[in-house]
Amino acid sequence: MKILGLIGLLVSTTLANQLPLVNEPTLDDLWGEEWPFQGITSFAHLNYTKCLLDRDSNFDIGIIGVPFDTATTYRSGARFGPKSIRSSSQRQTSLRGFNTRANINPYQNGSIILDCGDIPITPMDNSIALKQMTLAFEELLINRKREGEGKPKLIALGGDHSITLPHLRSLKQIYGKISVIHFDAHLDTWSPKGYPSYWNSNQSEFTHGSMLWMAHNEELINDENNFHIGIRTRISGNDLKDFDDDTSQGWTRYSADDIWINGREGLDEIISNIYHKIGDSPTFISLDVDCMDPAFTPGTGTIEPGGMLPREVIYLLRGLERLHLVGGDVVEVSPSFDNAEVTSTNAAQVVYEILTSMIKSKLYNK
Ligand SMILES: *[C@@H]1O[C@H](CO)[C@@H](O)[C@H](O)[C@H]1NC(C)=O
Ligand SMILES: *[C@@H]1O[C@H](CO)[C@@H](O)[C@H](O)[C@H]1NC(C)=O
Ligand SMILES: *[C@@H]1O[C@H](CO)[C@@H](O)[C@H](O)[C@H]1NC(C)=O
Repeated sequence: MKILGLIGLLVSTTLANQLPLVNEPTLDDLWGEEWPFQGITSFAHLNYTKCLLDRDSNFDIGIIGVPFDTATTYRSGARFGPKSIRSSSQRQTSLRGFNTRANINPYQNGSIILDCGDIPITPMDNSIALKQMTLAFEELLINRKREGEGKPKLIALGGDHSITLPHLRSLKQIYGKISVIHFDAHLDTWSPKGYPSYWNSNQSEFTHGSMLWMAHNEELINDENNFHIGIRTRISGNDLKDFDDDTSQGWTRYSADDIWINGREGLDEIISNIYHKIGDSPTFISLDVDCMDPAFTPGTGTIEPGGMLPREVIYLLRGLERLHLVGGDVVEVSPSFDNAEVTSTNAAQVVYEILTSMIKSKLYNK
């Protein structure tokens, strides 16, 4: 540095100050540094573009906020989920992003990862809202000319769980029927007919507990080889009919107890069963934060005691990295019920793990 400084001094003296000093700091040297707690908030300080407004925006993996919560059946508020997940993701940066479990830094592995902003969605009319979401996913996943290899993928930040439906609709057009791995305390394959009401419309069938039933009816997902992980919901009636309906829609259920009773071997067995059944079919991961225990995710709409630990969820997500992952979402973060950002921090970590597994998935599934 000293020598450079000296040369700089000589150069500037001989050229009579026509050139700047060689060691003069650039604006970026001076002001380009950003601490995790500063800056305008995008997911993990990623570059931010309103991708829906910019047809030239190019990403391998886009993070898209879906601030919609008027299909919830209990506590609402997940429309603020994307904001709070982004806020809690601030300690993630590309510089310090190495995932030691996966041996990879997802932010520095040659993939373009972009925060695509939020889909504007009306809270006044769900038929319009579903239309907006469906068009937006189509726009981002299908209608774009694209530079780079492979198909673009999205990780959606919910929003209530119904946002999975429009995402799956787009993926169907690209890949045909896909498998879904669904982390949740609840089935979400409930037929609205099971909850009859005098007051009904076609639109009232679209809820955060029926979207997987709709996905099955619309033939978006595989007829078998879909998996629930973390189930512990109460079910309706006096028998296991809800489970029978669920099975007939192609689902295998792992309960919250299945996750701990056989310890690590149990988890490994679940992972290997999933690989065995799904193979290299295109797969979507949908994670409702209520799959975790309310101790870790109190900030959500429909909490159920007795859930998974974050480390178990992370272990499972890590284990699924060899699947052909084509999309994912993290839903039901409702920050006004949260304490100390614990829910949104766990959600941001889950996004990071899905992102990591998606990048690795690309290495395995060329
Ligand atoms: C963000 O965008 C800038 C300007 O286009 C680019 O130079 C930079 O490499 C991008 N950063 C990341 C992490 O993609
Ligand atoms: C991505 O990570 C893999 C595994 O660590 C490594 O082999 C590869 O070189 C990385 N690619 C880039 C472009 O950094
Ligand atoms: C629901 O949609 C079907 C088919 O489009 C239509 O025939 C029916 O009248 C609708 N029902 C209500 C309650 O709107």
